[in-house]
Amino acid sequence: MEAEYRMELRNVSKHFGEVQSLRNVDFRLGRNEVVGLVGDNGAGKSTMIKIMTGYYNPDEGELYFNGVKVDNLTVPKARSLGVETVYQERALAELQTLWRNIFLGREVNNRFGFLDVKKMREETYRLMNESMGFTSTAVTPDTPIMTFSGGEKQGVAIVRALYFDADIIILDEPTMGLSLGETRKLLEFVRTIKRAGKSAIFIDHNIFHVHSIADRVVVLDRGRIAGEFLTKDISLDALMEKMYRVAETGSLD
Ligand SMILES: Nc1ncnc2c1ncn2[C@@H]1O[C@H](COP(=O)(O)OP(=O)(O)O)[C@@H](O)[C@H]1O
Ligand SMILES: [Mg+2]
Repeated sequence: MEAEYRMELRNVSKHFGEVQSLRNVDFRLGRNEVVGLVGDNGAGKSTMIKIMTGYYNPDEGELYFNGVKVDNLTVPKARSLGVETVYQERALAELQTLWRNIFLGREVNNRFGFLDVKKMREETYRLMNESMGFTSTAVTPDTPIMTFSGGEKQGVAIVRALYFDADIIILDEPTMGLSLGETRKLLEFVRTIKRAGKSAIFIDHNIFHVHSIADRVVVLDRGRIAGEFLTKDISLDALMEKMYRVAETGSLD
């Protein structure tokens, strides 16, 4: 039987010196669910993400993937469990071509053990047209990544993650510094995760983005889960009002 949750944190705490970044955090990510994680600067959002991706180990608490408890998660182990993080900066190899970036670290070899460049270029061409919406003749599988905009680069990283069957895609403030048009494109890429039947965690300061993308919004405040909402149950205005209240009082009530 399939586990109900793709991933779960139970009673997770993490401190750095004097700073208690996370306190007894319980969090669940469902199958084919997009969760928006919101909260003020320093609320612990990135720390939570880094625990899920094996970058930090929690001081206490447990992690489950597909219902199975995982101890001592590492970055490669998280990746093998289907977790992919899309970074604004480190997402791609700037000097390399589009096809190289799609297959970076997961190159396809032919039966002689050499790189199957033809196959990888063809697959990239197909992905460009079917998944990336790069229909301009200016873009080919051989276009260097550095000519792409910030939103497009993250889009490429999302398409790559889906192509290699990631189950959970994590985006930590992906729209930061993007223009309006780029943001719109990026949000469209995030929607493809949902359409592909996969799950995502989406962090953004802009409640409007979160509300338009997420199935559920989880509010973090000074290391604690302050509450959560199904986006279908709460209007954008009401969500904004709740966020102001959390910032002022630390509580959603
Ligand atoms: N590596 C670290 N060393 C020391 N303090 C850290 C570290 N990472 C995070 N923190 C602290 O933990 C708290 C939560 O940070 P973070 O998870 O980055 O919050 P958010 O992403 O919500 O802005 C902050 O007070 C931050 O300064
Ligand atoms: Mg952060």
